[in-house]
Amino acid sequence: MKHVTWAILFLTPVAIALQGSGGGAKDGQQVFRLNGGDVSYVVGINDKGQLQTVYWGKRLPDSQEFQAPKQGREVASFDMSLNTTPQEFAGWGGGLYVEPDLKITFPDGNRDLVLKYVSHTATADELDVVMKDISREVYVKVQYHMDSSTGVVRRSAEISNRTGAPLTIEQVASGTYNLPRGTDYQLHYVTGRWAAEWNLQQQPIHGGKTVLESRRGTTGAQNNPWVMIDRTGDHDQDHGDVWFAALGWSGSWQIAVEQDPAKETRVTGGPNAFDSSYYLKNGETFQTPYFYGGFSSNGTGGASRLLHRFEVDSLLPHAPHPKLRPVLYNSWEATTFNVDEAGQMALAEKAAGIGIERFVMDDGWFGERVNDHAGLGDWYVNSKKFPHGLKPLIDKVHSLKMDFGLWVEPEMVNPDSDLYRKHPDWVLNFTNRPRTEGRNQLVLNLARPDVHDYVLGFLDKLLNENDIAFLKWDYNRNWSEPGWPAVPVEQQKNVYVDFIRNYYDILQKLRQKHPGVEIESCSGGGGRVDLGVMHLTDEVWTSDNTDAYDRLFLQEGFSYAYTPAVMMAWVTDSPTWVNQRSLSLEYRFLSSMQGSLGIGANLNKWTPEDFTTAQKMVAAYKTVRQTVQQGDLYRLMSPREGEQTVTESVSRDGKQAAVFAFLHSSTQMYPFPRLYLRGLDENAMYELHSVAGKVNEDTPVKATGAYWMHHGVDLALRGDFQGAMFTLERQ
Ligand code: GLA
Repeated sequence: MKHVTWAILFLTPVAIALQGSGGGAKDGQQVFRLNGGDVSYVVGINDKGQLQTVYWGKRLPDSQEFQAPKQGREVASFDMSLNTTPQEFAGWGGGLYVEPDLKITFPDGNRDLVLKYVSHTATADELDVVMKDISREVYVKVQYHMDSSTGVVRRSAEISNRTGAPLTIEQVASGTYNLPRGTDYQLHYVTGRWAAEWNLQQQPIHGGKTVLESRRGTTGAQNNPWVMIDRTGDHDQDHGDVWFAALGWSGSWQIAVEQDPAKETRVTGGPNAFDSSYYLKNGETFQTPYFYGGFSSNGTGGASRLLHRFEVDSLLPHAPHPKLRPVLYNSWEATTFNVDEAGQMALAEKAAGIGIERFVMDDGWFGERVNDHAGLGDWYVNSKKFPHGLKPLIDKVHSLKMDFGLWVEPEMVNPDSDLYRKHPDWVLNFTNRPRTEGRNQLVLNLARPDVHDYVLGFLDKLLNENDIAFLKWDYNRNWSEPGWPAVPVEQQKNVYVDFIRNYYDILQKLRQKHPGVEIESCSGGGGRVDLGVMHLTDEVWTSDNTDAYDRLFLQEGFSYAYTPAVMMAWVTDSPTWVNQRSLSLEYRFLSSMQGSLGIGANLNKWTPEDFTTAQKMVAAYKTVRQTVQQGDLYRLMSPREGEQTVTESVSRDGKQAAVFAFLHSSTQMYPFPRLYLRGLDENAMYELHSVAGKVNEDTPVKATGAYWMHHGVDLALRGDFQGAMFTLERQ
């Protein structure tokens, strides 16, 4: 077959090349290629008019041409071609048994959907392929965007109903990623729960399907919408081919990783179809969330670094220059609901003395909120606790050269609140059924336009009337009885999607109206962290579990998918409420300094020595903050693999490396294993500065990058729960 490259846009480093046979679109067989970073992503239209994967992996030379794909072979009458073709976006119909990307029920009962290529458009970094059902006016625009520097692909699909009648989307995904043929894949993902998020799991991909999901209405901590896949045997933190995918959706979601009967591996992601559907009227379109996919040939560490860069440079609200996270103080663990003007002012004074830049008042400042039984929904300032409003406290915080942040939980209501007494119909509910409470609260149905307007309205007012720099937006339970009785029956299941769309809309509008305000996504800890919410918020609360040792595990899991630039980590009191474990203040600081540092301890109980330690550690943090938050993270030793944890962050400009090391427990007189640093310039000189703990006495002060990486460094750490930190500064 002769290939004619008929449109090439070599705007390196991104290039889309379209290869066609016989003049491209004429016979429907074409190849589309996206290049970005060190990745090539190639798809094509096969001889059946289906859109199928051709190649996804390490970037191939631009001169490399690809054969137009052919539909898969029918292996037997039981495995028809449709199932052996690695389709990029498959409609359910025509005998499809693998995970579909779209399943529709039409009003006449027809449920068959077979999508074929119609047309495409391509720009330097985007490709849209329009598909249509073989007989009905259902169009799907399969959309691709290639990130030029990291090679991260952003998939989505737009479904248009032009049938002249409504239809019901029973299941929809943003797209399917097909991996190269192989049977030695290994899946990495996280599981968790409240106060125990981010537990890394690892398992071989065998025949069958692994479904990661949330059916809870929002993202959830039980799984996170992210997967990483490498090959068994030839892999580690720095070596081996790794593919990853992450969904930008904060509602119920699903990622299915399927090794089909032909041993092909597919990864399909989108909103969860369980109990959900979408009623799409004639003339309407349904835009799926984004499903991101990436590839690295530098191991799971390389894949994480790529994802971090993508998040910092392309995804966060102020990308490519998101502001560094200020060091914050949060009152929650110190005061719980017992906040008042004098108490908060006293804490603010103490916080300012240790170099805190942002003072955040947590739960308890509004309505009749004295515990978690009342007040949610009544977003006026509690006049017993703050007789003069928030202004005196905010002024005080400003006079101490800090900015002010406030906790809110906008989507929730306590039955014991004015709001609920006035609008009992505003919550998710099924008529005449019990309304199950969690933490004594119910979930407002944000899909309702009036609830949307109320939430946007009170938040806007709060920000207009008070000089607030930061909102901690919390969300402390999952859904039950997800009914929406106010709309016609056939539209009630739209709630799963419309709720999240309104949530995003409110975040977007608030950001537009108050561009200076920063927002944290919190859901009882790390229950709402995903690439969707990260596009609209500046940071996330990693976990309510603030035990500094537990955090080493949680933070490692978090870092596989998400950048330390958004990972909030507080220093809290010891013994920790979580495990009754006693840890030194220095250790607690070192654990938190690997992310975005905050302090959540009760400063009223601190000794003068504690304040001195805190001042020193906060000052040290500020010297490495840019490196830690936005540099390249190397996981040198994993808490899951032994008695040590070590991370190293190298600044983007290569001038600084910050190393954090933890010894969990000395055993049998063994020394701390030698650290071999990564990511340094072999020939440059680096000077070592010790911040905490000790390096061995024979360690040189200055040495080449090659020395630090190949000879390595020995730490003089002995005992239980010991920590050390040093930096290397390029000379
Ligand atoms: C959640 C958050 C905590 C705190 C409380 C307040 O649990 O994760 O940090 O804000 O709510 O009620």
